[in-house]
Amino acid sequence: MGTKIIGTGSCLPETIVTNDDLAKIMDTSDEWISTRTGIKERHLAKDETTAGMSAAAARKAMENAGVTAQDIDLIIVGTVTADHITPSCACEVQAAIGADNAVAFDINAACSGFMFALNIAHAYLQTGACKTALIIGAETLSKIMDWDDRSTCVLFGDGAGAAVLQKSDRGGLLAFDQGSDGAKGSVLSCADRTNNNPLVKTPRELGYVHMDGQEVYRFAVTTVPQSLTRTIEAAGLSVQDIDYFALHQANIRILQAVAKRLKVSEERLPVSLDHCGNISAASVPILLDEMNRKGLLKPGMKVAMSGFGGGLTWASAVLEW
Ligand code: UT7
Repeated sequence: MGTKIIGTGSCLPETIVTNDDLAKIMDTSDEWISTRTGIKERHLAKDETTAGMSAAAARKAMENAGVTAQDIDLIIVGTVTADHITPSCACEVQAAIGADNAVAFDINAACSGFMFALNIAHAYLQTGACKTALIIGAETLSKIMDWDDRSTCVLFGDGAGAAVLQKSDRGGLLAFDQGSDGAKGSVLSCADRTNNNPLVKTPRELGYVHMDGQEVYRFAVTTVPQSLTRTIEAAGLSVQDIDYFALHQANIRILQAVAKRLKVSEERLPVSLDHCGNISAASVPILLDEMNRKGLLKPGMKVAMSGFGGGLTWASAVLEW
């Protein structure tokens, strides 16, 4: 018995900010951002919230899957930028879409969040703990960026992507690989509030994203090809059997390096980072939704997916569409 993605949806904030727009407010240029990252523009939230975008993506995914909110009995949101510490984003989505029968919770695996959610939902479905799962990757990263740090803030965007999953007789998820390396967590971090109570008085300073870009780059171009290769082998397939690689959208140079190491043509690695930037947990489901709506994904096709980032964390999956 496999686990199948039966519908996808996504939502991006209305406001588009181009590289030229950023160059008006900081010392950067379209030339630097485009050549180093492949990013041309990103959507940034004004009135949009993480839960609001998640609910909008969820509604589209449910419509695409042909299920109603009443059918959903599990909601998992991968996010590091929920609107509240509690309630969770998943509980806010549950309320917004009226999925009264669902168990709902968030997970934090940064850019691997959607992929971790996929594996958790797979386990729930396969044990019979749920029948129809809604998994979401959603971020309002712009609120945790240091807009004075041009080396990080230009890379990221806001948005949400969702998928509906059910058990299937054939195909679906064929193999999964997942890992974490907490010892290297400091290369991509964002501090939360610190202890502040009658015993410890500290200023309430909220943290912003801090990244050692070159370390993250090295981690990505080594770990992702290894993880993908393991997963493809575990699925009993070869790299050449994979129709598409739907990878976390961090940097075009990372995608090119992965393609080179796997010896596959870049056309098999669809791109959304040019118009979305890096949206952490939302990257993979937004890309998947774009591929789905463009009609790229046909039944029986093999898709390898991979997320990687803060934690450090990574996760790959091979699925038969
Ligand atoms: O989900 C995972 C998220 N993280 C990633 O994907 C990050 C992976 N890493 C990268 O993509 C790259 O390391 C970056 C795109 C972040 C940076 O590229 P780089 O080639 O490693 O550049 P760098 O940090 O070595 O900086 C080169 C130069 C520096 O100037 P000097 O010291 O050579 O004069 C920077 O100050 O580029 C400068 N620079 C900029 N210039 C214009 C840094 N950011 C900018 C900017 N605009 N936005």
